[in-house]
Amino acid sequence: MYEQVSHSLLNDILNRINPEISNQDLRHFYTRLGANFYAIHSLFERLYGHRSDFAEQAQNLVETMARQYIRRPDALRQLDLERERDYNWFLSQKWVGMALYVGGFAGDLRGLRENLNYFSELGVNLVHIMPIMLCPEGRSDGGYAVSDFRRIDPRVGTLEDLAALSEEMRRRDMLLVLDVVVNHTSDEHEWAQRARSGAPTYQDYYYTFGNRVVPDMFEQNMPEIFPQQAPGNFTWDETMQRWVMTVFNSYQWDLNYGNPAVFIEMLDIILFWANQGADILRLDAVAFLWKKIGSTCQNEREAHLILQLFKDCCQVAAPGVIFIAEAIVAPVEVAKYFGEDAVIAKECEIAYNATFMALLWDAVATKNARLLNQGIKSLPVKLERATWLNYIRCHDDIGLGFDDQDIVLAGYQPQEHRRFLIDYFTGRYPGSHARGLPFGENEKTGDARISGALASLVGLEHALEVGDSQGTEDAIALIILLHAMIFSFGGIALLYYGDALGTCNDDSYLDDPHKREDSRWIHRPAINWERAARRHTPGTAEFRIFTPLKRMIAVRKEIGVFADFNNRELLEVGNPHLFAFGRYNLNKPSERVLVIGNFSHKPQPLALADVAGWSPRCGRLVDLITGKHPEGINDSLVIPGFGCYWLSET
Ligand code: GLC
Repeated sequence: MYEQVSHSLLNDILNRINPEISNQDLRHFYTRLGANFYAIHSLFERLYGHRSDFAEQAQNLVETMARQYIRRPDALRQLDLERERDYNWFLSQKWVGMALYVGGFAGDLRGLRENLNYFSELGVNLVHIMPIMLCPEGRSDGGYAVSDFRRIDPRVGTLEDLAALSEEMRRRDMLLVLDVVVNHTSDEHEWAQRARSGAPTYQDYYYTFGNRVVPDMFEQNMPEIFPQQAPGNFTWDETMQRWVMTVFNSYQWDLNYGNPAVFIEMLDIILFWANQGADILRLDAVAFLWKKIGSTCQNEREAHLILQLFKDCCQVAAPGVIFIAEAIVAPVEVAKYFGEDAVIAKECEIAYNATFMALLWDAVATKNARLLNQGIKSLPVKLERATWLNYIRCHDDIGLGFDDQDIVLAGYQPQEHRRFLIDYFTGRYPGSHARGLPFGENEKTGDARISGALASLVGLEHALEVGDSQGTEDAIALIILLHAMIFSFGGIALLYYGDALGTCNDDSYLDDPHKREDSRWIHRPAINWERAARRHTPGTAEFRIFTPLKRMIAVRKEIGVFADFNNRELLEVGNPHLFAFGRYNLNKPSERVLVIGNFSHKPQPLALADVAGWSPRCGRLVDLITGKHPEGINDSLVIPGFGCYWLSET
């Protein structure tokens, strides 16, 4: 959009631009800058326009983008152009991902490159490497307390190793996802060290206070994120003699985005990693980016403006790179991370579907889909060109972030129901064989979350240990069912490393004093590749999980209706154990798939005549997963206990 004020500022900036930049051929950069500058200027002005150094900061902002564009390797610039043409590339059903810790998966980046065949074998073509930037040993929060944003942890490898990996992945048409921890740094980061030694410029990078007056005002409305291991939101720094805002662990200092220098530094870092070959950047803890006294300091309007600004700037310097929002917040808030008041995504193109994840776990515990159906009904509609990251487990805990209203509509009492879920997954509930651990128990509020590996949470660990063959059957069926749901729901499916092999809890973290207090480490295993080889041996649990997952991934990739174009319809089926939805080709009504999952251990009937728009005869349907006709009696389908169908008309 042409607008005089922003245009004249842009002219001033370009007139003053550093000769090292103006001497270069930056044709594409200038076109994109021209296209986005109105938005960039409006956002930057809205956030920082009141400052006397505004013009200088705007100059820095543009020069930062230009420098990173100049450094962008040719191959990546080429990819930018291709993705500009094929702008829906990330909505395709062909993307199936896996999140992993490099150390636990393959030792280091070289090991990971040598193991790429494992992904190809399973059909995974998007790999999210958990944070690999330099962190202090011990006080690292699993990589989320970064002490140097431009260096890789030497135990994992070097920038050269990463370049080799990304090149090889590109050759194999695989996407690389890297984390950028935008909300905070480690207290050992250079900025924090300088702040500690008294430099006001760097104290202004964080929220620091000489006394408790402001911290106490903040505390009145801020919830505690790690109430057990790091209660409160502020930490006293002895050297600096000041309080620092530390929403997560006491050694993770929250960055002050009220300072434009922080925004520009972090943009520079985002673009740095884009230039290392990342296709997608996962922006960590984005709900927390803006702090305001009197609020919970989550999901603030300005946090969204910052993300929009990151997006607009990234589109100028590295438009082929897209963002994942890691915002594990209430269902109505999550969808806002695609961008509010917009048609197409304008913040992050991808967001974790934490709502679906938590609802699936609810269905596992209750053995019915009442809350799952209700919760999905309330899931806000996505923008166009925005997609979910559907997952079952990840490196974090499972938060029970359902809407209370939905819990009531599903027929439960919210507090009681949450208590039941915690008891169920920690194995305290009579008859439950789940082996989860509580995480973040808050005595003041009664809240708690759950840690644990998928296989342990669904009872596989217990069943294998006691030799319960029915229990083993059920747990394996559940693992397959949960994956069938995330593969077909619409969005990028993200597996968690170890899950396709039935990897159970790993309690070795208890021996490490830095990890002992954080139960999330129980589900961050080291893969035992000798055991993993059993995936080729029929009859083993590994084989019985890996094989159907591999098959479903292959089928998903072939079925166009599984691409995510807001082409899913939740179907009422009148049986509380079933979760059913249709996937459609909006341009070709005859192309459609009926997905049905049964969360009960008992077979469940479904009369096709009751499913709106779906009344074909059972015999005319084929299950795409197995290639067989589904079981049925008199045009009532029978869905096996913990079974799942992807039905299409023959
Ligand atoms: C994100 C990460 C989590 C980490 C937190 C603080 O939520 O996923 O592992 O503890 O941010 O960095």
